[in-house]
Amino acid sequence: MKLSSRLSAIAPSATMAIDARQKAMTREGRPVISFGAGEPDFPTPAPIAAAGISAIEAGFTKYTALSGIPELREAVCMRLNCDLGLTYSPEQITITSGAKAALFNAFQALLNPGDEVIIPSPNWVSYEAQVLLAGGVPVIVPTTEADGFKLDPGSLRRHITSRTRLLVLNSPCNPTGAVYSAGELRGLGAELLDSEIGVVSDEIYQRISYDGPSASFAASVPEMAGRTILINGASKSYSMTGWRIGFAAGPLEVIAAMNGIQSHSTSNASSVSQYAALKAFSDSQAEVDKMCVAFRQRRDVIVSLLNQIPGIRCSMPSGAFYAFPNVYGAVARLSESTSVKSSLDLAEYLLESVYVATVPGEAFGAPGYLRLSFACGMPAIQEGIARIREAVTGVR
Ligand SMILES: Cc1ncc(COP(=O)(O)O)c(C=O)c1O
Repeated sequence: MKLSSRLSAIAPSATMAIDARQKAMTREGRPVISFGAGEPDFPTPAPIAAAGISAIEAGFTKYTALSGIPELREAVCMRLNCDLGLTYSPEQITITSGAKAALFNAFQALLNPGDEVIIPSPNWVSYEAQVLLAGGVPVIVPTTEADGFKLDPGSLRRHITSRTRLLVLNSPCNPTGAVYSAGELRGLGAELLDSEIGVVSDEIYQRISYDGPSASFAASVPEMAGRTILINGASKSYSMTGWRIGFAAGPLEVIAAMNGIQSHSTSNASSVSQYAALKAFSDSQAEVDKMCVAFRQRRDVIVSLLNQIPGIRCSMPSGAFYAFPNVYGAVARLSESTSVKSSLDLAEYLLESVYVATVPGEAFGAPGYLRLSFACGMPAIQEGIARIREAVTGVR
């Protein structure tokens, strides 16, 4: 059958082939170590899982309100207030099937054909695809390793045109681990105050931050709160990726529009998952803090081991669970004796030669880098990085 022309705008993911190859190799019984996963390796904490089971047993297995059960929206308001000092009413919250659906609905609700959306790069791939599917035009603004992969106000200013409608911020950032301070967010916000430009602030890794709590855009630039859609969810903080619970908080009219879109697409997020998320958001946050301590230990080890490999340079991520090393030197080294000419080639080479799966920077608009998720156990980190060292230098 003939497919929609909308799809022609969406480039196939640079990582699809590697991902398929990694899965095939694992099926064939090869000892693959994967740094590819974008999800915590921990199980969903037992009390949260039990709340899901209780919800099934209590018969909470029917449609819910479109925007989510009121108790969960209230719990989200409470969390945003306790954690970030933000004040929202439950009507300003919509619960979605993962943060991805919250982002999708936000772009659908806010964009008209030709509207420009500024996306600092390296960036999570789905922003571009979702903007394109909403008829918008992604304006990719590069940031540099030297600047900590953060957008600076001058660069933002230079990319604003009369068609700019939104700025997407993602702090802590996937893939770079960059975390903007409140002051840096204020600097960016100052560029938008005299405009009608809105901000989609993806804070899905907000609780996974290593230098103190990470700042939220709406809290840092209160004058912009009425034009900010805050996106978060249960997936990363509570190790609940499969439960599919995300949320958006924002101005009433935008949230109502997003609910309207949801009413014709997914209806409500899973009822059972909503009760599990209610437990996650309402209870003590000690489990999240424990996971964060483990992530920090792994971060310190993986970054230190990566930096000991000639040709690889890795700065310390301040949040999320990804290392994002510069591998230009390793590519140059290998290019003399192999067909490796890019980070994409390097990722393929690592998979084929030492069975280590990584995500090439090309997937995030950042050739010359690899993304390694350290949401895996310490033994896998030690063995996996030893294999990378062997592949790059010939010795373990
Ligand atoms: C930056 C970012 N935003 C949003 C999402 C989507 O989260 P969810 O699984 O809740 O849809 C991800 C997941 O990888 C992500 O990395």
